Amino acid sequence: MAEAQARQHGGHTEDVSAERSAEGGLRFEVDGEIATITLDRPDKRNAQTFATWSALARIGESLPGQVRVVVVKGEGPSFSAGIDLRMFTPEGVPGQGSFSSAARSGEAGFEHSIRQAQAGFLWLRRPEIVSIAAVQGHAIGAGFQLALACDLRIVADDVKFCMKEPALGLVPDLTGTKPLVELVGLAKAIDICLTARVVRAEEAARIGLAEQVVPLGELDRAVRDKAAELLSTNRDAAAATKRLLQGARARTLEEQSVAEGLEQAARIKALFG
Ligand code: ACO
Repeated sequence: MAEAQARQHGGHTEDVSAERSAEGGLRFEVDGEIATITLDRPDKRNAQTFATWSALARIGESLPGQVRVVVVKGEGPSFSAGIDLRMFTPEGVPGQGSFSSAARSGEAGFEHSIRQAQAGFLWLRRPEIVSIAAVQGHAIGAGFQLALACDLRIVADDVKFCMKEPALGLVPDLTGTKPLVELVGLAKAIDICLTARVVRAEEAARIGLAEQVVPLGELDRAVRDKAAELLSTNRDAAAATKRLLQGARARTLEEQSVAEGLEQAARIKALFG
């Protein structure tokens, strides 16, 4: 296993690539079947940089095999205030450049950087895990998209989602547009993105953006309870069911029925063969 190999600490494990994660402003901990990724720059409202996204990608590449639930949370008052605004300045983020330097690097180079950044988000949908975003305060731009990259969103009652990119002349490009449309529908997604307005807790729950809204002080406990519920089902059946659910939208009813039969045959063979 690569650098994020888990290190035992009396039943509790921790990433040995802690240094790399810290560079990206992240903490990564594994406790049995639950991994927790914490955005850990609260003084900067957990602003994200390219280092954040490559640290996320590295965690995904080397996630210990026993992990079934991945919790993504933010330290401090905000889940994440989105991309580090230093990217908009000529100086940029030290060691990581700026949008001006990216514009000069040519289309292919920047497209490649975006694909690398997206890798930090895409693994959170793997069938073998369920990812939960625990969201309090602001989830802006890249912060909103990180929450959208997770399977489930449990939010505090002070949550403020905002897709700020179009207001800044950008598009949301960190894998957030598809899950947003799938969750809330095209018209509502257009409304949310093209106005860059704030979506608060009550609306988030009503339109399907949040599975659960809880008082701020109960967020951690609600996420722990959901993780425990998720761990109560059979690991392989859960992964197979997630595969089926993920593929359902793209298949016809007939195709989906065939897929169900194939997955069930594999389950029956594994259980009784
Ligand atoms: N990038 C870098 N630093 C940030 C960011 C950010 N995105 N957001 C906040 N900070 C810093 C502030 O500069 C400030 O630093 P300082 O103490 O050194 O001055 C610190 O975090 C606290 O910020 P405040 O604004 O004082 O915190 P407050 O809780 O009042 O407001 C809020 C939080 C609403 C999130 C506000 O900081 C904000 O609007 N941030 C910018 C959001 C944004 O436009 N993000 C880009 C979205 S587009 C995309 O992600 C692709």
